[in-house]
Amino acid sequence: MSTKPYTRSLILASVAAAPVIFGPAGADALEPIESLGKNIFFDEKLSIPANKQACASCHDPARGWILPNATINATTVVAPGAKPHAVGNIKPHANAYASFSPPFRRGSFGPFTAPWEGGNFWDGRAEGCGATPGADCPTAEPRGAVSATIRSSGLPSSLQARYAKYLGPIADQALNPFPNDVEQNIREKNVCQQVKTAKYKDLYRQAYGGDIDCSPNPKANPACRTSFKRLAVALAAWQASSDVNSFSSRRDKKLADDPDHAFPLVGFTDQENLGHDLFYGIDSELNRGGKDARCTACHNGVPRGEPADPKGEAPKQLYTDNRFHHIGVPFNRQIQGVAKGAKTGLRAHVTDVQAGSFRTPTLRNVAKGLSASFKKAYTHNGWFKSLESLVHFYNTRDVLRSCESLGITQATEKEALQNNCWPAPEFPNPAVFVVGNLGLTASEEAAIVAYMKTLSDERTPKKP
Ligand code: HEC
Ligand code: HEC
Repeated sequence: MSTKPYTRSLILASVAAAPVIFGPAGADALEPIESLGKNIFFDEKLSIPANKQACASCHDPARGWILPNATINATTVVAPGAKPHAVGNIKPHANAYASFSPPFRRGSFGPFTAPWEGGNFWDGRAEGCGATPGADCPTAEPRGAVSATIRSSGLPSSLQARYAKYLGPIADQALNPFPNDVEQNIREKNVCQQVKTAKYKDLYRQAYGGDIDCSPNPKANPACRTSFKRLAVALAAWQASSDVNSFSSRRDKKLADDPDHAFPLVGFTDQENLGHDLFYGIDSELNRGGKDARCTACHNGVPRGEPADPKGEAPKQLYTDNRFHHIGVPFNRQIQGVAKGAKTGLRAHVTDVQAGSFRTPTLRNVAKGLSASFKKAYTHNGWFKSLESLVHFYNTRDVLRSCESLGITQATEKEALQNNCWPAPEFPNPAVFVVGNLGLTASEEAAIVAYMKTLSDERTPKKP
């Protein structure tokens, strides 16, 4: 994967004949491989039963790339699959900006961080190790299996070199939803055949220099499997493009327009500027004494290779460290079929960590598409139903009485708020001293929420 997926490489001779496809107004032109990925992302024919489900069904750009179903968000949280009665077991998280997560690897971090970082999914199991062969990945194959498809399988070396940057976690991730029976529920071969007859089939030829081959032979490594993986690479390419990662929020625009490109921003309200200063712990006229909500211990990061951004003024601030932390989220009894203690996060993927750590989600687009009638769910199990309550939790997790002490077990968010208590964390209380007792006032909590509301991209890709 490129650290700068927004950089357009020159069109190489092998695909020079490709027409340039234009995305929605304001978007950059897409290359054929990106455009192929975009068409696949929105194609509801790629499910069984057909016409039931596309990637976009669970990752709606207009709602910040999450499940566009307010009723489910308010209750059971998990997405229905294409097949009748099939449902998932964890909240779909936004796929935008996920392409910036590095391949899964061991590192050494501060005391409140699990010793792993990167990958895609809440537990990092889409490892993307093919992107950096020889990297310190626990399992280079088969999780890095997309890579072999590009590095061998008869692709001209010019294309191999050109597409190598897409072989990160997000390409490995794309292998999962189609065959998953609680998602699109369709086999590799059928995906291949659908694309072969789709109205966008020429994009495959333009991207890979030949028609898509869906043959089941040779048995050991059938052509249809190679083609399927190439479609995963196309999905990765689009999800790494500026169409998906547009950095087009009000924060991005006002920062670019600001005379010194620094906070406080001209064009932000005092409340929004204060929210920023609290988020980053910056001593300012609005935040005298530099009160620190300590969000940056985890929600701060930039694309690989770019300078660190301690004050949140980088154009490409990602609002995640792509590492794993345990913030003490309560058990959500409303997810059917998921018992307490079942969703351990990173622990389900590697064994040398305590249960309860999840990969930090980006805060970009957390408020996108919210309205009086459309509410989201937050954190991996969607226990939190608003940004307000989540910030209140960070502020008072260790201050309010426990719901259990009031005799309320497995409380929902609503029950907790009504009783002014927090449930015990699903997994034993972690000593995460950076959350739990921040000493924020109600208006400071509100300022942090107002700041997060400036992070919604104003560009929204549409179904092609
Ligand atoms: C039925 C709903 C559903 C469908 C359909 C679906 N996803 Fe997802 N997606 C999820 C869920 C749930 C997760 C989180 C799963 C986990 O972490 O274990 C997820 C996670 C992801 C992530 C990881 C983001 C990150 O930051 O780690 C990406 C990327 C993604 N999906 C892309 C896709 C693509 C591409 C498709 C189509 C090929 C797709 N999804 C289809 C529900 C869905
Ligand atoms: C110790 C690391 C850490 C700190 C400090 C932290 N977060 Fe988080 N944040 C996380 C992790 C990890 C998750 C996901 C937890 C889960 O799903 O179990 C998360 C989830 C969230 C979400 C939900 C996003 C989504 O898509 O569901 C929001 C919003 C959020 N944090 C905002 C904040 C704010 C604002 C602050 C500062 C007041 C903050 N966080 C401090 C690590 C942290």
